[in-house]
Amino acid sequence: MVGLPARGKSFISQKVRRYLSWLSVPTQSFNQSSYRKKRAEALMRKDDDLFDPSNERAREARRLAHEDSIAAILEWFNTQEAGVAIYDGANINREIRKEIYTTLDEHGIQTLFLESFCNDESKVRANIMDINKTSPDYADKSAEFTVADLEKKINFYSEFYEPMDVEHEGDYTFIKLLNLSSDLLINRIQSYLQSRIVFYIVNLHVKPRYIWLSRHGESQYNLEGKIGGDADLSERGWKYARKLKDMVNEYIPNNENLQVWTSTLTRTQQTGSFLPYPKKTWKALDELDAGSCDGLTYDEIAEQFPGDFKARDDNKFEYRYPGGESYRDVITRLEPIIMELENQENVLVITHQAVLRCIYAYFMNVHQEDSPWMSIPLHTLIKLDIRAYDTIVTRIKADIPAVSTYKEKGTSKLGETKDNSKILAGTVISSTHPEVLASK
Ligand code: G3H
Repeated sequence: MVGLPARGKSFISQKVRRYLSWLSVPTQSFNQSSYRKKRAEALMRKDDDLFDPSNERAREARRLAHEDSIAAILEWFNTQEAGVAIYDGANINREIRKEIYTTLDEHGIQTLFLESFCNDESKVRANIMDINKTSPDYADKSAEFTVADLEKKINFYSEFYEPMDVEHEGDYTFIKLLNLSSDLLINRIQSYLQSRIVFYIVNLHVKPRYIWLSRHGESQYNLEGKIGGDADLSERGWKYARKLKDMVNEYIPNNENLQVWTSTLTRTQQTGSFLPYPKKTWKALDELDAGSCDGLTYDEIAEQFPGDFKARDDNKFEYRYPGGESYRDVITRLEPIIMELENQENVLVITHQAVLRCIYAYFMNVHQEDSPWMSIPLHTLIKLDIRAYDTIVTRIKADIPAVSTYKEKGTSKLGETKDNSKILAGTVISSTHPEVLASK
């Protein structure tokens, strides 16, 4: 990363790390300021200021923190066959970037510089406020403290800042993001992975926004415990579809701009059928393809395909149904959906259990092994409040009963005997709870 403080570097680093990890690219972020804090504690006196240009001890602490970061990156690469290390720091001038490039090159590591250049003061100010509200670095600090602290750092780094340009650094691969918009300058992008990162950055949204998720209403297949298929909604499923219209009116602000996305399958389209908003149908949102097991109950799968049944329980993320898909496959086909969701605001996605687990795992950074085991009940609207450094989840239950489609590990029976909702974080409220309605 390259850029002055409060240019969204940590936000971008965190998003890119999450995106690449979700795509199964081993990715690790190295935050220069955490190394700096450690060095400052060890080297500096109580009254020393880490960003005082005339303080020798501060200069030493900063230099060692940079060396620590690079050493940690090299050590991490020693444990990986391939991967992406994100060096989240200011890397403010050509000299330091040359040193980074040369050191990494000597170790056979390619460098992609990602600069966030922003001279729009209103955006910098808004970013400082976001950092104050949501960054763990300023968790217990007042807005005044955060503004003063970041302005001091900005002034300090501005003295040395040399923005990237083709004239001086044309040999490097770099992306220059301009004023936190989708305007980019790109130079010498050379690999598929680098181009994915460019595309992701283009779509990245820095404004706080909501995304709404729901499974389809209960289906006829759900009643019979069958997986897959293209069944109609059950009577209760239709009830949820009607109720969803009221819930959208009640809970989704500015819903006149809402877009509704569904899969190509009947049950999601029926669930969205009462919603008077523009709709998009995506094949990529279709349920995980159960191949030869499509249309069977878990009991039938355990009986007819015992080896497959066990293999799936043993490694649910990787297991691929004969002629069908694995969770990993679903993630691959969901990539365009994630790109588009990053670019949009005010979208309600009505889709299926496995697909929602994958989308939720992206936004909430859920580990691959855990994501296929998340409990995402029917007849529940999930609100993701996406802020710069975190996401707040609220689950609004429609209070319309539905069967459980959850199968725990080691059994073919449906239903949850233990609390599997832990992974799906957030506050749970009921759409008919009088206190909730009164306090909204
Ligand atoms: O197959 C359809 C289900 O919605 C996916 O659930 O991965 O827990 O079996 P499962």
